[in-house]
Amino acid sequence: MRQIKQNIYSVGAIDFDARLFDKLIPLPDGTSYNSYLIKGSEKTALLDTVDPTKTNVLLGNLEKLGIEKIDYVIAHHGEQDHSGSLPDILKRFPNAKLVTNAKCKDILANLLEIKDDRFVTIEDGGQLSLGDKTLQFVFLPWVHWPETLGTYLKEDKILFSCDFFGSHFAASSLFVEDESAVYEPAKRYYAEIMMPFRRQINSNLEKLKNFQIEIIAPSHGPVYKKPKFIMDAYKDWSSDAVKNEVILAYVSMHGSTAKMAEYFTAALIERGIGVKQFELSAVDIGKLAMAMVDAATIVIGSPTVLAAAHPLAAYAAFLANALRPKTKFASIIGSFGWGGKMVEQLASMIPNLKAEILEPVLSKGEPKENDFAALDRLADEILAKHKELGIIK
Ligand code: FEO
Repeated sequence: MRQIKQNIYSVGAIDFDARLFDKLIPLPDGTSYNSYLIKGSEKTALLDTVDPTKTNVLLGNLEKLGIEKIDYVIAHHGEQDHSGSLPDILKRFPNAKLVTNAKCKDILANLLEIKDDRFVTIEDGGQLSLGDKTLQFVFLPWVHWPETLGTYLKEDKILFSCDFFGSHFAASSLFVEDESAVYEPAKRYYAEIMMPFRRQINSNLEKLKNFQIEIIAPSHGPVYKKPKFIMDAYKDWSSDAVKNEVILAYVSMHGSTAKMAEYFTAALIERGIGVKQFELSAVDIGKLAMAMVDAATIVIGSPTVLAAAHPLAAYAAFLANALRPKTKFASIIGSFGWGGKMVEQLASMIPNLKAEILEPVLSKGEPKENDFAALDRLADEILAKHKELGIIK
């Protein structure tokens, strides 16, 4: 339990040991499930709960604060890492009303079987008085679910932003102390869940211009006392701007595709193009997703297995398609022993990428002189395309 300002507490849980989120996303820096308690002169509100694995931490923090009565529990988001402890909290505080919007109410009613009479449904811009403190609700759809909302505490100019601006970053300090340390976890978080909704992120950033925000308190990671840092980062990530970078995500079985990858990376570097190379059998998909936030071009490298793409290359293509990065160009390199449809299969897996597909390079067996020449041709083409975009200094 830690204090943000007088009568405003962080009562959630820090999970230093968490290493995988949603059985998918690596958490190299752990995470936190932030829950906030606001004591007004007349009413007390709890903003979000915690992951159900940490319910005891939340209940313990409330007990330490001597909280005997909660009037409102605000649910910003239906996902269980924030809502999962709601049933226990509503049981512990039987008179508390559960405040949320209609979409979130529907999700919570279905996920957690919360009865209708516990809910108070609010509208975008609606206000709730705690006496000397006023909560104003701000709908923030698609950060990253459709129902998500935030709360603006008017008197203290604090935005409780839910997943928006969050980071999977377990830190003992309540506030961001070192912006450079939180930048990567915040970008990783954006890449993994926000990036597919870049347009809506932009709209929500625009909407927040109407608020004077001095503190951003997200539902994961430390609290921002200088909101400009994270708001500027989001503006950059969600903009249309791309960088002079190529992501090369590849896997190789017997070394042919690896040789092509090595040659191709060197060819790009020689041309002054940044390269982020990922070997897919040991990849941190968070790092791969982060690279996708900015790179102008993605190239997938695969051998041909059973006449098709290597499953790990297919996984990378599937992930890129799901994350919908703003990538402008894409291509495929790889090899085959006797035949197959690897290129066609991978190309068909990325329809969500609004990227121009550059001519792939495919080697029969070991890459030979003509294959290396083709890789040089692809590197030249990428250079020309990046120049056309004006991203080469
Ligand atoms: Fe942190 Fe979408 O839950």
